[in-house]
Parts: sequence; structure tokens; C-alpha cells
Amino acid sequence: MNILGIDIGGSGIKGAPVDIETGRLVSQRHRIPTPKPATPPVVVEAVGRLVEHFGWKGPIGCTFPAIVKAGVVHSAANVDKSWIGTDGQGLLEERTGCPVLLINDADAAGLAEMSFGAGEGRKGVVIMLTLGTGLGSAVFIDGRLVPNTEFGHIEIRGKNAEERAASRIRKEKDLDWKTWAGHVDEFMGRMEALLSPDLFIIGGGVSKKHHQFLHLIDTRAEVVPAKALNEAGIIGAALAARSVAS
Ligand code: BGC
Repeated sequence: MNILGIDIGGSGIKGAPVDIETGRLVSQRHRIPTPKPATPPVVVEAVGRLVEHFGWKGPIGCTFPAIVKAGVVHSAANVDKSWIGTDGQGLLEERTGCPVLLINDADAAGLAEMSFGAGEGRKGVVIMLTLGTGLGSAVFIDGRLVPNTEFGHIEIRGKNAEERAASRIRKEKDLDWKTWAGHVDEFMGRMEALLSPDLFIIGGGVSKKHHQFLHLIDTRAEVVPAKALNEAGIIGAALAARSVAS
């Protein structure tokens, strides 16, 4: 079965139909720039256009970089604050006429990795971290997701962890790999002390450059780069939307 997966990010909205049995994109992904300011009406319209690009009529899974409960957005760390309290899923269903499942972006990426990537078949406690504009987390216990964990916002050295360890910070502050990896290492050490994971999966765009920093991470648990890389959000969103497919 194919489901349209869509990944709403700070700079781009990307989508492609996904074969949920294999986790592969069945056609080339399409990307449109995220409109600015990224308020609910303009983002919903942009997603609508993406859906039209594929001429899609069927279930849709869509990520959002915030807490999402029953389709409603409950936080807005890196998105327009007017999203808080918005029924994003309902608005997308109205615009597209399709059944939609809205899910946190890191949770979606984690689902993709657990099904077809670096976490395939892994039991125990697995933590997926997405290092990008924000710092996302997804926690799995014996393969089952604990949604909306938001560990990227724990406090470290008086700061929001995301403000030290997100990939955006390395670029914004022009940090060398070693300094930034030190921030990531400290964050992961804290995660390890709290949750004793068996495996960390590192995702987000920067995971393509994992050879620059993963050897500088010193945790007891195994640490591996994500396999689906930039497509994990699209794939995971499609997988999650199985629940709205009849
Ligand atoms: C948000 C999370 C999101 C992460 C990655 C954080 O700022 O609070 O919900 O998963 O960024 O986009």
C-alpha cells in the first residue's frame, strides 16, 4: 500500500508517496520552500499544493516540528507561535479532502529508522535524536514509540539543550566540530543517565557528516547514524498514517 508522506521543516516542505511495506519512496520527492512567516493558513496551503502536485487522493502522513496530540499542535519552539492550539490535522484534511495523520517530526523519523533503518529489529530502549534546526527526540521501548518526548528542551548549563546541541547552533556560532560534538556528547550523557538506552540513532541532515563527530561521542550505549537520512520524516509519516488508511 502507498501512502503520501510529507515532512514539514523550517526551510522546506517535502513529500513523496511511500510504499509502506518496503519503506521506499515510489516516486521522486517534491520540495517546496516553507513560506515565511510559516503561519497555519500559508503552510496548510503549501501542503495542499504539494498534494496536488502528486494528484493524490488517499491517506496522508505529515510531520510537524512540535508536540502533536490528536492532531493538535501544542508547542512552537521553531515555528510560528500561532500554531499553538491549532488543529493542524483538521486543517490539512479540510484543504486536501484526504484522511491525514499529523505526527511530531522526530517521532516520524524514529518510526522510519525502527522499521527500515538503523533500529530495525532492535529491542530495549532506543533513542533517536534529530539534529537540525531544532533538537528532536523519539524514544522506543521494545519497538514501541513513546510520543512527544521533547528531550531537546531539557536544561543544560542553564540553557535549553537545543540551543547548544542542535546542528543549527554549530553553523550560527561557527563552532568547530569538536566543540559542537562536546555539546552533543554532554546532552547524550544526560540522556543516558536518565534513560539507560541500549542504542542511540543520530538523524537530521548532519547525520550525513557523521564521520566528523560521532567518534567524539562517548556513551556506554552504542551510537549509530540514521540510515534513511533526510527521507526518514517522509517515510515515518507515511508509516504512522497506516492508522488513518481504511
Ligand atoms: C521541537 C520538537 C521537534 C524538534 C526537531 C524542537 O524544537 O520542540 O518538537 O521534534 O525541534 O524539529
